[in-house]
Amino acid sequence: MSTLVLVFHPHLTDGSTVNARLLAALEAQGESDVIVRDEYAANPNFTIDVAKEHELLEAADRVILQFPFYWYSSPALLKEWEDQVIAAGWAYGGGHALEGKELKLVVTTGSEAAKYRKDGEYGRTMDELLSPFEVVAYKVGMTYVKPFLVQGTSTISEDELEQAAADYVSAIID
Ligand SMILES: Cc1cc2nc3c(=O)[nH]c(=O)nc-3n(C[C@H](O)[C@H](O)[C@H](O)COP(=O)(O)O)c2cc1C
Repeated sequence: MSTLVLVFHPHLTDGSTVNARLLAALEAQGESDVIVRDEYAANPNFTIDVAKEHELLEAADRVILQFPFYWYSSPALLKEWEDQVIAAGWAYGGGHALEGKELKLVVTTGSEAAKYRKDGEYGRTMDELLSPFEVVAYKVGMTYVKPFLVQGTSTISEDELEQAAADYVSAIID
């Protein structure tokens, strides 16, 4: 089973703590059937190489979209990526390129999990806030599986980060 990890972090190599740590733990496994792609580095200035993205997606059985939560959503490049890559005639509207593949989100949030509850500060659950991705998966015939979340990153301890990295590796390589 081949896994494609598409990472959308504008500061993956110059500012990220949590996503960089998760990816370092994954890369340390040296799994040959896992490809990690830093999308901001691969597509500078929001100029997306759609043909390359399609090629990578077509070869994958599982697709991971990984990003830090920005304003209760994804960083901007992921939205642009969706708009360009999930194309009519390729993924829907007569196209079936993504059908049967698995889609999993990996999301890190600065705020702790308790704020993302109906009765929490934000009054919205992560499932609600991430639901557009679930509906996209439905639309293109992908199987949307439970997201992997690392929450409360602004106060995460070293031990918690180490545990999160281990859990992340298990979630990606299972
Ligand atoms: C522009 C911006 C917007 C953010 N918006 C949110 C948000 O809406 N909710 C939240 O919990 N954290 C938010 N954060 C915090 C990031 O999610 C957090 O710093 C990130 O997940 C940590 O991962 P990293 O160490 O890989 O950067 C935001 C951070 C930035 C820079």
